Amino acid sequence: MSKYRVRIAEPDIGEEEIKAVVDVLKSGWLAHGPIVEEFERKFAEYVGVRHAIAVVNGTAALKTLLWSLGIGEGDEVIVPCFTFFATASTVLMVGAKPVFADIELETYNLDPESVLERITPRTKAIIAVHLYGHPANMRALKEIAEDHKLVLVEDAAQAHGARTPEGNVGGLGDGAAFSFYATKNMTTGEGGMITTNRDDVAELARLYRNHGQISKYVHVVLGENLRMTSIQAAIGLVQLAKLESMIARRRRNAAILNEILKNTGLVLPVEKPGYRHVYHQYVVRVDSEKTGVSRDELAKELKNRGIEVAIHYPRPLPDQPLFRALGYPSSATTCPNALLASKQVLSLPVHSRLTEEQVRYVGETVREILAGF
Ligand SMILES: Cc1ncc(COP(=O)(O)O)c(C=O)c1O
Repeated sequence: MSKYRVRIAEPDIGEEEIKAVVDVLKSGWLAHGPIVEEFERKFAEYVGVRHAIAVVNGTAALKTLLWSLGIGEGDEVIVPCFTFFATASTVLMVGAKPVFADIELETYNLDPESVLERITPRTKAIIAVHLYGHPANMRALKEIAEDHKLVLVEDAAQAHGARTPEGNVGGLGDGAAFSFYATKNMTTGEGGMITTNRDDVAELARLYRNHGQISKYVHVVLGENLRMTSIQAAIGLVQLAKLESMIARRRRNAAILNEILKNTGLVLPVEKPGYRHVYHQYVVRVDSEKTGVSRDELAKELKNRGIEVAIHYPRPLPDQPLFRALGYPSSATTCPNALLASKQVLSLPVHSRLTEEQVRYVGETVREILAGF
């Protein structure tokens, strides 16, 4: 039996969020209302952009954003091989074609060289994912986008509060999509937000999330109902106010793990100079040649000691059955780095509710297991 049970993710919800929800329930204004607009305003202010548009989840944010950027039939969109499914599925949803590029092993984000190799006359956009909370190389990607007249999208689902030398994540391209899913660095249960500095994109996004309705019962484009509720927004406002302190705790936890796990043979996460990593995940890479133990053996031993771990992600996207069925070649031929990462990455608990003692327990247990092999 282990001393602790350490979970891989836990929503950081307290009395304030509970009170905020009860207040909304008592107000009788449950669906889209002024509190959603307040959340949008404060989120835009936090990111430092002109507009924020709240929707039901991060997938809806991405889809709405792509649609609002005019991406559709006949367009190719370059996405990383190594990300959550929604980065690519939303490209298919708007009728465009995802084209997979490889990642850099340092940050697990898009490799600009690989992006360049994938550009064709049909390329319309690049989606940069800030995976695990470390921003992609937006300077290089922006340069590519400008040179080739491409739209640059940020999938910031995992990176609220992350920063680059060029500025805050969420304001670095034509538009960004955030997720407030329960495990994210800030949550509304389910929820999403689009941020953009482009007035035209914001206007379309607002239309698309609300039946294309420009004024009461006047519909100008084909939209959906993707509106965020006031209940979600009330939680979001409290979470946003707590976000910096939750990030600080994640960063403290990551620093403790870095210290304990150095010189173990594990490849530890990096924070590039001038960037702020928000550690949505703390991901190590287990190369059995160096550690003597495989990723899966280490994961099993940790689970046996009460420590939950996860693999983000066990399969590069081109190897998903859906993409295979669509005729995509395997990642072994197109994305060797993504394939290697999928075999070696392991996410350790780093979330903001962990006590320092729990984080030390995670680090020491990993060390102990590695020493035993
Ligand atoms: C990189 C990435 N993109 C998109 C999404 C989709 O967000 P949601 O789960 O809120 O629909 C997620 C969330 O899991 C994600 O991690």
